[in-house]
Amino acid sequence: MRFQLALIASALCQPVSAFAPVRTAVRPLSTLQMSSDTINLGIFGGGTVGGGIVEILQKKSAHFQKLTGKTINVKKVCVRDASKPRDFTLPEGCSIVTSYDDILNDDGIDIAVEVMGGTTDAKDVVFGALKNGKSVVTANKALIAKDLPEIEKLLASLNDDTEFRYEAAVCGGIPIIRSMQSDFVGDDIKVMSGIINGCTNFMLTAMDRDKKSYDEALGQASDLGYAEADPTLDVGGFDARSKLKILIRLAYGMDVEEDEINCRGITELTKIDFEYAKMLGGTIKLLGVAERNDSGEVSAFVSPCYVTNDDPLSSVNGATNAIEVVSSNLVSSIYIGQGAGRYPTANSCINDIVALAKGDKTPLPFNPKSETKFSNNYSSTFFLRLNYRDQVGITRQIGEICEKHGVSIHSILQNPVQKNQDSAFAIVTEKVEFGAILKVLADIESLNWCKGKPFYMPVLREDWQS
Ligand SMILES: NC(=O)c1ccc[n+]([C@@H]2O[C@H](COP(=O)([O-])OP(=O)(O)OC[C@H]3O[C@@H](n4cnc5c(N)ncnc54)[C@H](OP(=O)(O)O)[C@@H]3O)[C@@H](O)[C@H]2O)c1
Repeated sequence: MRFQLALIASALCQPVSAFAPVRTAVRPLSTLQMSSDTINLGIFGGGTVGGGIVEILQKKSAHFQKLTGKTINVKKVCVRDASKPRDFTLPEGCSIVTSYDDILNDDGIDIAVEVMGGTTDAKDVVFGALKNGKSVVTANKALIAKDLPEIEKLLASLNDDTEFRYEAAVCGGIPIIRSMQSDFVGDDIKVMSGIINGCTNFMLTAMDRDKKSYDEALGQASDLGYAEADPTLDVGGFDARSKLKILIRLAYGMDVEEDEINCRGITELTKIDFEYAKMLGGTIKLLGVAERNDSGEVSAFVSPCYVTNDDPLSSVNGATNAIEVVSSNLVSSIYIGQGAGRYPTANSCINDIVALAKGDKTPLPFNPKSETKFSNNYSSTFFLRLNYRDQVGITRQIGEICEKHGVSIHSILQNPVQKNQDSAFAIVTEKVEFGAILKVLADIESLNWCKGKPFYMPVLREDWQS
């Protein structure tokens, strides 16, 4: 109520023309706009990330006071189970609540921090907070990837001071969102390629370097807290796809449906693929790649990719994330860092909170929209692995099929055959369209010597051999 009176008083002092924006009847005024020396937070989620945020705020409170001129105070933390022991100390005066409304309807709370995850309740919380004039800080890539246009529409209808920040949502601790919002404004992004899922990168490192099996690697990743509650999101490539979708919007101004992005995880990879990758002088990484082609369209995919050993991404191991942005002015910018974990992720949330406390503005958090079109075809060199029963004429048939679909073969690799009935060889093609590779694979799969589904992956970079 205090806020409403302040609003009316300040509106009465404006010249007549300034009355036009008295849109508060339909647009709630941001609580931040009117805050005093204290910024009050309501945090939804007191788990890994939520606990980290509370800890950092406590540890650095004096510094934040100097930096922003304000006290950043955690007023309430909303959790599912209030009786559960927490691994952080609740700040003085902060209460644990279980009802969303305790934060959403608290006019004294300026910023809602959503770190509970999910896309249903989290959506109610984020949308409810924004509609109630609270700025939002979130780490929730799944929600943003699913509802980005709706979030954008809501933000456009709100008071200009209501901010939406999501640095932690893509690659945890790496400041890629801020960079995409501010460092490429005079540039044109051509390609983004990145290791944007820490769990799978940890697993691929364990399988390649430490010779672990797929199951051992997944078990270890889960034990260390790198896997999502549902690891299918990681190993199926879906978590990486959500992040790629958000990056595509920021880089190219284009909203693409997640389903349109060709998505393959690491579940089809076998030991033999790593052996052949090694033979070629490289390794395998799960990458999210988006690229603008010569006609201006953008294509994108999430897939295991062959990466040469001298590629900067090949040495990014464990749960570390990395993104390379290739652009006209900056040529190549590589961001490497911790893509997940309590403190790296909380660090990004803290940066957003402190920016809000300082009064920084990002009126278009997803950058402006453009007319760029999406295409789910792209060109690349491809690595194919075929399991087969040995017989005469296999190489001839492969050659005929590739010729039929205009696919030129760069090389064929084969380890000494140990089991006649169950062997595998690999083919590397020249640069071809993805559509042509799918036709080649369909034809090969129908042959009687071919065992199971052939595996394919793009080779990162056109100049991979130079
Ligand atoms: N962990 C990471 O490394 C990381 C990295 C990047 C982004 N993120 C994102 O950050 C968010 C949080 O992740 P997290 O790892 O911190 O999760 P978490 O450890 O599972 O914590 C989730 C917290 O939210 C609370 N919560 C969940 N559902 C709720 C509901 N319906 N109502 C009230 N409270 C609810 C839980 O309460 P209880 O404790 O009572 O169960 C818990 O405190 C997710 O969106 C995730 O994708 C996480």
